[in-house]
Amino acid sequence: MTTAMRISPEPPVAAAALPWDAPVGDAVASIAAARAEHGDTFVVHSGEAGRDTYLFCFSPQGVESFYALPEESASKGVADYLMLRRKLPDEVFADRRTLPGGLFRKDDVATYLTALDDSLDLTITELGGAGTVDLFALTRRLGHRMGLASWGGPGSASGEVFEALAADLDQLDGAASFVHPDTVRAVAESGYAEERAALERVVALLGPAVDAASAAPEEHGLFGRIVAAWSDAGPEDRRRGAALDVVLVHVASMSNLNAALGWALVDLLEHPDALERVRGGDAAFASRCALESTRLAQRSIMSRHVMSPVALDTGATTYEVGPGVTIATLLPLTNLDPALGHDRWDPERWDRYRFTDTAGLASPQLVTAFGHGKHTCPAQPFSLAAMTASATRLLTTYDLTTRWTDHPLPVPAQIGGVARASGPVEVSYSRRA
Ligand code: HEM
Repeated sequence: MTTAMRISPEPPVAAAALPWDAPVGDAVASIAAARAEHGDTFVVHSGEAGRDTYLFCFSPQGVESFYALPEESASKGVADYLMLRRKLPDEVFADRRTLPGGLFRKDDVATYLTALDDSLDLTITELGGAGTVDLFALTRRLGHRMGLASWGGPGSASGEVFEALAADLDQLDGAASFVHPDTVRAVAESGYAEERAALERVVALLGPAVDAASAAPEEHGLFGRIVAAWSDAGPEDRRRGAALDVVLVHVASMSNLNAALGWALVDLLEHPDALERVRGGDAAFASRCALESTRLAQRSIMSRHVMSPVALDTGATTYEVGPGVTIATLLPLTNLDPALGHDRWDPERWDRYRFTDTAGLASPQLVTAFGHGKHTCPAQPFSLAAMTASATRLLTTYDLTTRWTDHPLPVPAQIGGVARASGPVEVSYSRRA
């Protein structure tokens, strides 16, 4: 089907490739170049024979119209699935009974923050008195531990079971679909062989905990809720079903948080005054720092897959968009306007969750760290509390010396999510007196 039949009037078509179709070098720069050539609204064709159509919008009204699209006709859930399934086989998504959106019932956040505290204790024990560590490896391991302590059941967050689960969850990190989109074609061509092997190992590793929790799920927090949802199934289906629920919850939620914490530490280490203020215990300031680092590190492609016809008003034109098109905007192209100084780190721009440095900005919705509208991240308060607690604990326990000379760079091919660092980001540390 041609663009003309799916989008009316027909927007300009950019020759840009998306990183999962062809090597593009820097994926964000490639979309920026298309925008410089075609303006704020344009189409990029993707997939086999260019069958997938991405309608990018960047004008202030276009972005506002994007965030107002109703889920029933322009679905974020379907768009996310279409992205993640490039890395993960269908069985991870089919028949799920607990979804990441179900993680934020009353009291859940308190449970996660207790799990974080325990995980920080273990992290500090592991780090010992002095050494050298890659910041992003450290935050990823911390995130695995906290996540598994929260929803992985008894025994999953320590010892050999933790080591094995962390390795398999790295293998299953769906974020590879947008962090290394250039590698996912090979994953599909292999029939997801390594991912399926990792899934089987996770099912085996979590099986005993599922069995143990089945007797009294109410005593096992969120993990108990996941297991209870399978109470009508036989033991084998219950083990598999609950384990795959844990996998989806974990891989869909943790990787952005781990990366954002890495950048928050990088930025604080590069701003000694701010670092001292965080060490002094100013939690509200630390939270603003975390928000600002997350904003700067955002490479998210925000996308909605059109299920039934919708109108997208870009200010200049109202487009009628038909089913099958993915409407998208790309945060790094609107978040970081150098003319407004938005490419610099300044935590004082935030008043709680609100970005206040809006002078000269045509719409407040052009800048974000956790999204706008009804899909705004439900984990924002939890994520900021977790980043604040982790940064404060690590920075008050250790003196850290950066081993990089230039500010670390993101993986260039990444399109989507919070930036991952393109190389090692090492610090040496020693315990403070
Ligand atoms: C620093 C860490 C995080 C960042 C920067 C982040 C960012 C975002 C953004 C920008 C959105 C909106 C996407 C859109 O409109 O297309 C979103 C949605 C979402 N996030 Fe997060 N997120 C983070 C951590 C988490 C965690 C830890 C969880 C779960 C434990 C989570 C669960 C979700 C869910 C379920 C949605 C979808 C909400 C909906 O569709 O209504 N996020 N996140």
